[in-house]
Amino acid sequence: MRRKAGGRRLHLLWVSGSSLQVGLSFPGNRSDLPNGIRRLRVPSRAPSRSTLKLEEAWHEFIPRSQWEERLEGHLTAADLGAAPGGWTWQLVQKGMYVYAIDNGPMAAELMASGQVEHLKEDGFTWEPPYRLDWLVCDIVDKPIRVIAMMERWLVGRWCREAVFNLKLPMKKRWEEVTKCLSHLEDVLHEAGVKYTLRCRHLYHDREEVTVHIRLQ
Ligand SMILES: C[S@@+](CC[C@H](N)C(=O)[O-])C[C@H]1O[C@@H](n2cnc3c(N)ncnc32)[C@H](O)[C@@H]1O
Repeated sequence: MRRKAGGRRLHLLWVSGSSLQVGLSFPGNRSDLPNGIRRLRVPSRAPSRSTLKLEEAWHEFIPRSQWEERLEGHLTAADLGAAPGGWTWQLVQKGMYVYAIDNGPMAAELMASGQVEHLKEDGFTWEPPYRLDWLVCDIVDKPIRVIAMMERWLVGRWCREAVFNLKLPMKKRWEEVTKCLSHLEDVLHEAGVKYTLRCRHLYHDREEVTVHIRLQ
């Protein structure tokens, strides 16, 4: 069986003590991590557990061989809905200079890095003073509101790459996410913006999905 499997894998999910579901997966169309879970340790100095969502997003969306070019060095970033600073902490660890936008307080140790400018402004209306490398957004709000804000950023080319969350509604989750992403794609298409987009429900996500966009 192993010889003829051609990389296919059998999956068994025990749904109770007496029954199980049987599945088959193909190479390139499955997670190769044990049980599909990327186990990441919460860094002891990170201001919040949410930090793992951004770290997992990078593992998921950016090939490791491109981290140096796309994430490291003196890049610039904005973090909308930044407090207390779990995502900003990840950006700072990579050496980035970060505009942290939130009315709430940022962790003091993070501010001591000298790499963070904390602005108590509205993340939905704030505009960067110049083009940034990264935009990340973890604001919990209506998905369509987050999409409208992302559209402004991307059509204006105010950043090169972005990671943001879409909070899932109680009902019709698939429909809502599909509607939001189609709206975004239509607007980018009309504006002639070329991009790659991916959306995943990450292990560290709960009632949300994570979207990554890279402009070409
Ligand atoms: C889930 S928390 C962010 C956690 C953060 N990513 C971290 O890792 O520590 C959401 C944050 O969004 C902020 N927020 C909500 N509405 C906002 C707005 N319109 N502009 C800026 N921040 C906002 C809240 O104050 C809150 O701190």
